[in-house]
Amino acid sequence: MPAPRAGARAALPIVDEQPRVGPGFGRGFGHGKVILAGEHAVVHGYPALAAGISVGIAAAARPGHGRLSVPAWSLEAAAGDGSAVGRALDAIVARLDAGGLDFVGEARIPARAGIGSSAALAVAVARAAAAATGRSIGDAAVAAAVADAEAVFHGTPSGIDAAAAATGAVGRFRRGEGWRPVAVRRSITICVGLSGRERDTAAQVAAVARLRERLPATDRILGLIGELAGDAERAVAGGDIEGLGRIFDAAHGLLAALRLSSPELDALCHGARAAGAAGAKLTGAGGGGAAIALAPGREDDVLARWRSDGFEGFLAEIATTPAPTPTPATEAQP
Ligand code: MEV
Repeated sequence: MPAPRAGARAALPIVDEQPRVGPGFGRGFGHGKVILAGEHAVVHGYPALAAGISVGIAAAARPGHGRLSVPAWSLEAAAGDGSAVGRALDAIVARLDAGGLDFVGEARIPARAGIGSSAALAVAVARAAAAATGRSIGDAAVAAAVADAEAVFHGTPSGIDAAAAATGAVGRFRRGEGWRPVAVRRSITICVGLSGRERDTAAQVAAVARLRERLPATDRILGLIGELAGDAERAVAGGDIEGLGRIFDAAHGLLAALRLSSPELDALCHGARAAGAAGAKLTGAGGGGAAIALAPGREDDVLARWRSDGFEGFLAEIATTPAPTPTPATEAQP
């Protein structure tokens, strides 16, 4: 959900209180995400590979009047207040028929940084709301509520952020097919570097749509980015971190060709490579937001280099997961 402008970079610790149970009380969690390959291409029907990361947002619901606060982001909103966050909250409450609740979000990821803060908060709030109703509300209804909330902020998002926020694992996502879990052979440590500039997903997606009209090669570039998502899936499944790093570099070059990078994102990628990374790319919508790097055994060097260049960063872990048993893909969009 929200796109709060007050950008608290450092996250508040999760308050580890005993959750209240019973009607009107509920808790939910949404994962932050990184897109390993395929951002923007996924909007145009190509596949993408994303990972829900262990850090994210926890939300607690309690009886109240439709208010939402996220202290780490200095965010206060209410259903019906007309703000974007309020409208997203309206959408969740309406879809789940979950009125008469207040929500507090405890964020461990920064807002508007390209790592899925809006989807993570929407998933956390929707899950908390669903739990607080005391009715058995299924995953599909929660996913539909999250999609409604995401549409308030991002226009016509592909749904990849919402799917990653809900699962917290690695998956391949394609419009119309939804999310399919992907095996992770070796755990992966991702260095996440923050450009310090907020990203605006809707504006970046619109810029690519305009470029498609003016530059026919745009479609071929998007196709190549989608192809890299397939290569990235095979690298992750085979435990080939060096190979994944080369895919990151190629993906960043292609995204930059679509004018989705920025001086800060380029500096993060160059700095990571200079510090020994196997590869680096922007992640998410670009223009601002975050870059990610793979630097097995050199992660601290990458974070130190970013710090000395004036950028904050942190590490996120992707755990190993066995090859999934074949099941139909889950469509995250209603
Ligand atoms: C944003 O995290 C990813 C984009 O591909 C937009 C989307 O898929 O909705 C840029």
